[in-house]
Amino acid sequence: MPEADVSKKEKMYYVDTPQKTPGFFLKGAGSLDWGMKNRLSRIFNPDTGRTLMLAIDHGYFQGPTTGLERIDLNIVPIMPYADALMMTRGILRTVVPPSITKPIVMRCSGGPSILKELSDEQLAVDIEDAIRMNVAAITLQVFIGGEFETRSVHNMTRLVDMGLRYGIPTMAVTAVGKDMVRDARYFRLACRICAELGAQIVKTYYVPEDFETITASCPVPIVMAGGKKLPELDALTMAYNAVQQGASGVDMGRNIFQSDAPKAMMQAVAKVVHENMKPKDALDLYETIKNKKK
Ligand code: 5RP
Repeated sequence: MPEADVSKKEKMYYVDTPQKTPGFFLKGAGSLDWGMKNRLSRIFNPDTGRTLMLAIDHGYFQGPTTGLERIDLNIVPIMPYADALMMTRGILRTVVPPSITKPIVMRCSGGPSILKELSDEQLAVDIEDAIRMNVAAITLQVFIGGEFETRSVHNMTRLVDMGLRYGIPTMAVTAVGKDMVRDARYFRLACRICAELGAQIVKTYYVPEDFETITASCPVPIVMAGGKKLPELDALTMAYNAVQQGASGVDMGRNIFQSDAPKAMMQAVAKVVHENMKPKDALDLYETIKNKKK
């Protein structure tokens, strides 16, 4: 039985010393191949090292989510404001015009619906199909501590292997079971496991305490997941804190498409992510853009 990490010695994260990545702008990506770096450079802005990804893949397990009932009508028009788009192949092929050249982060896991045990996922897209759709990255859930933990980790390592074969980065999403504690300790564990086993990007949730230890101890870029809808100022503050504490951007869904003015929210979050705009100023910008439409 391997021993748990129970040392009494304090852990050292050196949160004020950024990890060096010689030869490339993105954390942990210096030794990757040209195609992989090129795809990452489409997702992450090389000038800021950050991304504003719009997540609209919720339907893969919960059907027509509020705000995503008609992606053709309500979401396609806001796509130009995103740096990257996370979605399923079903939505990509049915309602997203191929003339949209934003990098696609393709949801490649699935299986259970919200009516069942969510960690019971399998890989749900072939790498050949991902290539056919010209995706910039492939992505899946990893359920550390979940009922089907090992299977989801194995799904990830298979996806990473397939991605490496063709220069396509894998983004692992740390999915948290309903009864699990969402704290820095858990997310350090989950994010580090995903990176150690090969994910080139990790998407994880923000926690108010010690988030910088999660980003510092994860050797690849972390993008912050949005989570359930919050008041706009709270969502902008969460995004601001995440990037100030080492996140390489955000991958937000409900806090954008369930906002009263998704287009305005996209622009406000973009300022926070790429220009370090303070949350209150970003809220003012949001209100100004929102009211202009009236
Ligand atoms: C599903 C996902 C979603 O893409 C994403 O986390 C949902 O975005 P948000 O929480 O911001 O609505 O990975 O678990």
